Amino acid sequence: MAVRNDADIAPLEQIFSGRTSPRYTMDGGGLYVASRLADVRDAICAAGLERGERFLDLGSGDGRVVCLAALIGAKAKGIESDPELHQAAIERAACVIEAYRGSEFALEIELTHGDFLDHPLGDADVVFYYGGGNVRRVKEVNGKLSREMKPGARAIIFRTQKIPDLKMELCPASRPPYFYIYRKG
Ligand SMILES: C[S@@+](CC[C@H](N)C(=O)[O-])C[C@H]1O[C@@H](n2cnc3c(N)ncnc32)[C@H](O)[C@@H]1O
Repeated sequence: MAVRNDADIAPLEQIFSGRTSPRYTMDGGGLYVASRLADVRDAICAAGLERGERFLDLGSGDGRVVCLAALIGAKAKGIESDPELHQAAIERAACVIEAYRGSEFALEIELTHGDFLDHPLGDADVVFYYGGGNVRRVKEVNGKLSREMKPGARAIIFRTQKIPDLKMELCPASRPPYFYIYRKG
């Protein structure tokens, strides 16, 4: 499904608009801030996500990024540790599936409640990570991405500081400070 124009993601914008405010998460996972869908679309397109690829959002919040990836045709999965956000994501994903029913393909959305640090990354073609300013956590995720991603997989580091020692190629499409894209060699 095309998501290049703002009109393509208008139903998604409507489902997610103004419904989740920034707050500290219930499980100590850090700050929850929802991303802007148009920025996520640009990042996902720059990472070259294609139909049929596996997409994984580490800390999926209210599920908006996972739903957007599913609209492109990815097998989209999110892992969220905050129980309320996880529940909100399930409810909104159901609305998204309903809104796009009858489109060219059925959306593949999987939402898991848990700690993404326990989740293996080896299957993913594109990993999305919006970590915010938690330096300790960014370092943990850095190690995990370097160790576990398969060759050719891409990591979108979204609105989080550039990861200096991530041993991957930094794609030229990166546009700091909004996102960086790394490709595992
Ligand atoms: C900045 S928000 C981004 C939400 C979503 N990806 C987006 O872009 O709209 C980060 C999310 O990661 C979650 N989180 C933080 N640490 C986590 C962990 N170890 N496992 C699962 N979720 C985690 C937080 O609860 C929060 O919802």
